[in-house]
Amino acid sequence: MLIEIPLDSTVRAMSKSVSEFIEEGLRRSKTIDCFDFVPSNYRMVYSVLRPMPRERFCEWGSGMGIVTGLAEMLGFDACGIEIDSQMAAASRELLADFGLAATIETGDYFEICHDAEVYFTYCWPGQMQRVEQHFLSSVTPDHAKLLICHGAEDIRCKVKPGM
Ligand SMILES: C[S@@+](CC[C@H](N)C(=O)[O-])C[C@H]1O[C@@H](n2cnc3c(N)ncnc32)[C@H](O)[C@@H]1O
Repeated sequence: MLIEIPLDSTVRAMSKSVSEFIEEGLRRSKTIDCFDFVPSNYRMVYSVLRPMPRERFCEWGSGMGIVTGLAEMLGFDACGIEIDSQMAAASRELLADFGLAATIETGDYFEICHDAEVYFTYCWPGQMQRVEQHFLSSVTPDHAKLLICHGAEDIRCKVKPGM
């Protein structure tokens, strides 16, 4: 079982360019037919990431790539994994259009590994146990943190026991 640790989620101001990136991502996401895509609360995700050390970041189920892009804008070495190929292609285009270099891999995050200090995921409630088990058994380094949404407005930070 993972251990939940406190998270600094003080709401932080965003620059105009960050807001424009989020708005454009949301606008483009509406043109794509992907049942599984539900947007996060990006202001909240941005606020959570901002005080964290800028290390490697991997988004499991990156959708439109907005969180991956925000992580890069904040200085993380960011990447995403997205199973829906249309969504993945659109997210690559969005990132490129905003001059961002973060990579998006098309595929299943239960099968693809990218080492990172910070992982982020917003999955269906019925998947959360599997996701946490996957994090526990497959992720390196051991001190990595999992930011997992229990709903768009409820981001929690979890770590492996003893970390
Ligand atoms: C609720 S949406 C969240 C998208 C994005 N993380 C965000 O916050 O904007 C979940 C995304 O995960 C993708 N997804 C679901 N299962 C996946 C899997 N096993 N591997 C990769 N992507 C997956 C879906 O296609 C969808 O885009």
